[in-house]
Amino acid sequence: MPRLALMSLLLACSTSVTAAALHIRQSDSNGTTTVTIPQRDADRAARKKEVAYRHDNFLYNISQIGNAAAFPMGKIGEERVSAAWDQWQIDRDIINGHIQKDVAQIRQAIVANNGTLRTLDDYATVLYKDQWLNASPLKPALGSLTNYTLDSFFGGERLVRPYSLYKASDKDSKLIDISDEDAKKIAGSTVAELLSANRLFAVDHSYQADQTVYVPSQFNDKYGAPVTALFYLNDNKELLPLGIRTNTGANLTYTPLDGENDWLLAKMMFNVADQFHAQIYHLTATHNVGEALHEAAMRTLSDAHPIMAVLDRLNYQAYSARPVGEAMCFNPMGHWDENFHISQIGCRNFVTEYWPTYGAFEPNYLQTDLHARGLVDEAGISPFKTFPFWDDASEILRVQREFFTTFVDTYYTSDEEVTADEEVGDWFEEVRRGPTGPEVEAQGLTPVASFPEKAAKKVLVDVLTHNAWLQVAHHSLNAGDPVRSSLTLPFHPGGLHKPVPEAKGIESVVPFLPNATASVTSIGFSASFNRPRYRTMDPPRTLAYAYSGPEFLAHFAEKEVHDAADKYLEDMTRLGEKNDARKIEADGMCTGQGIPFCWTAINPSYIPWFFSV
Ligand SMILES: *[C@@H]1O[C@H](CO)[C@@H](O)[C@H](O)[C@H]1NC(C)=O
Ligand SMILES: *[C@@H]1O[C@H](CO)[C@@H](O)[C@H](O)[C@H]1NC(C)=O
Ligand SMILES: *[C@@H]1O[C@H](CO)[C@@H](O)[C@H](O)[C@H]1NC(C)=O
Ligand SMILES: *[C@@H]1O[C@H](CO)[C@@H](O)[C@H](O)[C@H]1NC(C)=O
Ligand SMILES: *[C@@H]1O[C@H](CO)[C@@H](O)[C@H](O)[C@H]1NC(C)=O
Ligand SMILES: *[C@@H]1O[C@H](CO)[C@@H](O)[C@H](O)[C@H]1NC(C)=O
Ligand SMILES: [Fe+2]
Repeated sequence: MPRLALMSLLLACSTSVTAAALHIRQSDSNGTTTVTIPQRDADRAARKKEVAYRHDNFLYNISQIGNAAAFPMGKIGEERVSAAWDQWQIDRDIINGHIQKDVAQIRQAIVANNGTLRTLDDYATVLYKDQWLNASPLKPALGSLTNYTLDSFFGGERLVRPYSLYKASDKDSKLIDISDEDAKKIAGSTVAELLSANRLFAVDHSYQADQTVYVPSQFNDKYGAPVTALFYLNDNKELLPLGIRTNTGANLTYTPLDGENDWLLAKMMFNVADQFHAQIYHLTATHNVGEALHEAAMRTLSDAHPIMAVLDRLNYQAYSARPVGEAMCFNPMGHWDENFHISQIGCRNFVTEYWPTYGAFEPNYLQTDLHARGLVDEAGISPFKTFPFWDDASEILRVQREFFTTFVDTYYTSDEEVTADEEVGDWFEEVRRGPTGPEVEAQGLTPVASFPEKAAKKVLVDVLTHNAWLQVAHHSLNAGDPVRSSLTLPFHPGGLHKPVPEAKGIESVVPFLPNATASVTSIGFSASFNRPRYRTMDPPRTLAYAYSGPEFLAHFAEKEVHDAADKYLEDMTRLGEKNDARKIEADGMCTGQGIPFCWTAINPSYIPWFFSV
């Protein structure tokens, strides 16, 4: 019954939306246009006028969901935002229809189970067996409902969503309280020995301890702990947990030597803290950066600029994400607070706090970031037996880089030609200076940090490749991943539904889990980000098709760009096939990934090429 609340809220929102006029135009220019760089444009005067018009009509409003990138306003800005909302609305109606069908069916399964979920197995079976087939036809990731109690599963999850993991240094050895004796029992070595052997890794969510910043959900029914944790590499270079400290209440350190239930609960507490980090990191580090670059481009590049065509393509629907978040996720007592332990206020504060670092540009180039955290070296070699995230991500990046290398080569024969492109020069300056205007100054917004100073051919390739990568990073954290993997129950509750224990010796983790109703709400919420229909559209709206299809390619007269798009499609499709073929092998591990579940979150034949809310 209470689930009707979720649906009525969604429906209430849709009523106010359909009242708005539909703006379907993607571009504010009049019937674009074959692209060209300004110095080759036949009518430079008209082009300057057009850029000036865009500059004056695409303005910066205050940021949304915390202080990060500004939000568009002005005539052109409002048109874009309105178009994005309308585009999202279509997807939203479809996925909501699917969720409603699925929820109706799952309610029957729960009723047939006497209306409750009594055991851990009930969570994995009643909630998932032959369920969610409309909203999530790919089903939960293989192994995710069967192998979650394994420490190799928990360690493996760090290597598919490595956003909070780093190689430990001296000060980190105190992140848990563990005796030499216990450490030896678990890892065969003391913490000091692991540290000096470069076999110690850490996650530190202790910042979440400040409840004036990370205010708990205003539903007052969920709990969590600002955990810190250490991980170690065993002799096979597999990453395994050494211990987790709660940093709250009795401040217990849990280890694999504890009773089964205590240790499982500790890992669930870790998951509660880590997914808060992952979800709000995704807002800070992907949406906001992508939007900031596009906004600056809207004010400096002509609609006929080749780079504008790429940025427009990648920012399809982009400006729906934050308004949708404001309206129905991070609103007071909204879906976020309903499902997660730390409130929407905490989410906003996280975005503001970490925009200068997670939102920085060059330091977050994939390899630069992973290298800084000790997860790969200069040559891209990781210390782990396998590093599934890096394997997939680096292959995708290689294909993206190849496309943008040809792209930049096609339009610029030399660095001097890049320098002579005043639109690109203005774009860089605009990104670096950041948003302006009374609204954003009052809010104190800062630019994307560490954006390169000056464009050159290689710099442009780096910038375009990283910008395109951010779209993919998004889908490793949001979109279809949570419903299939990172937020599957029972292992990944949004919050504990009982306070963090003051002592070890719990009899069961079940009382700490969301009840049947809250579980369905939580899975339905995760499913609302999934976009399974995109892969069956014609042409598909998947990463593989990012630069294919007549709509996009019509902008480009140069054969090189068409050929590069074909090559990109072919290479991405091959990566998609490899991803599709993953299964649990005879040794219980996923094909090529060495972990007891299959991580398929960034399949180029499944994920959208754009931010999809
Ligand atoms: C597009 O065309 C319309 C009607 O011809 C005109 O009013 C408008 O100013 C044009 N917009 C731009 C950006 O040139
Ligand atoms: C600026 O943003 C605020 C907050 O989202 C909104 O209320 C206001 O209408 C916006 N202003 C313009 C001119 O779009
Ligand atoms: C439901 O409850 C009844 C009566 O308590 C019991 O006989 C039955 O086995 C239960 N069914 C399930 C699926 O637990
Ligand atoms: C937990 O223990 C650590 C060290 O043992 C200490 O530094 C920290 O302040 C404690 N936190 C709380 C909330 O008790
Ligand atoms: C299930 O949990 C939700 C969320 O905490 C709560 O509002 C609801 O009352 C609970 N339902 C039952 C039957 O306990
Ligand atoms: C993981 O689960 C699958 C069934 O989903 C099973 O075949 C496999 O053996 C399990 N892996 C391990 C390491 O237990
Ligand atoms: Fe998102």
